[in-house]
Amino acid sequence: MKKILLFVALSALVSCAPQSKEQTLKSAYKDYFPIGVALGENTFKDAKQDSLISLQFSSVTAENCMKPHQIGVAEGEYNFEPADCMLDYVEENGMVMRGHTLLWHSAAPDWFFAPDKDGNEASKELILSRLERYITDVVTHFKGRVYCYDVVNEAISDNPNHYLRQNSVWYKHFGDSEFIEMAFKYAHAADPDALLFYNDYSVVNASKRANIINLVKELQAKDTPIHGIGIQGHWNIASPTREELVATIEDVKALGLKVQVTELDVRVNPHWAGGALTIEEDKKHAIYEFTPELSAKLTAQYKMIFDTFREYRDVLSGVTFWNLYDGNTWLDRRQGNLGKNYPLLFDENMQPKEAYSAVVNF
Ligand code: GLA
Repeated sequence: MKKILLFVALSALVSCAPQSKEQTLKSAYKDYFPIGVALGENTFKDAKQDSLISLQFSSVTAENCMKPHQIGVAEGEYNFEPADCMLDYVEENGMVMRGHTLLWHSAAPDWFFAPDKDGNEASKELILSRLERYITDVVTHFKGRVYCYDVVNEAISDNPNHYLRQNSVWYKHFGDSEFIEMAFKYAHAADPDALLFYNDYSVVNASKRANIINLVKELQAKDTPIHGIGIQGHWNIASPTREELVATIEDVKALGLKVQVTELDVRVNPHWAGGALTIEEDKKHAIYEFTPELSAKLTAQYKMIFDTFREYRDVLSGVTFWNLYDGNTWLDRRQGNLGKNYPLLFDENMQPKEAYSAVVNF
């Protein structure tokens, strides 16, 4: 009898135990969506990072080497080498590659807007012809190897009284959304199989999202090939709430589009919140230690986020983390000595955090 009871107790323990120890992000989510990571040009050449990437992830985004200021050296002149090298790595490891990004105000080389050959100010037509050539050449180069693109990045204003971002060199030349519409059309013409996304931060913010939805409707009314919205996902332990996240995904679903979460990180500092990534210029709220309390809050937030993601697997077609581990997050790089963020699932030694267990065990 004793033996039977022991057996029953042990079986109960085994069946309640989280999924096997060997569970990884990519194995846990294989029936849901690809789990991606943004990589710097050389990071995957480091043996330790390479093991973690190839074990855990099924999708890659280039942190910088596919942006127009890196690829578009001059009109008709390209630097594809770093991206090609990353693509070789991606394919050798059986992963897929997202293309990020074809048009972004923060990575817009001057030659797009340079005067014409007679020294006259560049007309919209001239700028569009340069854009068409750039997008056609880049998308053709990667055709069949890059399955989707963040075609246009961050074109909507953070100011609720504005619509399109005003401090964009593209907006300054066009004054409307024509450059956005045409970017999608050029990309689709070059690779009709590629999935095309509009990508932005603060999509969970209702007033910014309303403008993003307006833009998408404007594009759809002009028969623009757009397949999804990329929600960057630079979040924190207090934001978004589940209600905000659900409302965001539902709104995209209602447009008939897919969602990808393209740049996920969850900073532990709620004071430095929001996708606008405003870093306070003082140390008042700086965090330098990842305490058990912060770990618990981070874990709870990641659990809520991934529970919601799994619920929406019909509309969510990819989730990508922005960087691999806490030792190399762009947030700390950007903040300098103004505290740390601990935003990822792997710690500064590339070891899985408590939050990792909450994401893979469900
Ligand atoms: C934005 C861009 C990304 C990256 C991050 C910060 O979110 O879309 O490509 O540059 O900023 O690194």
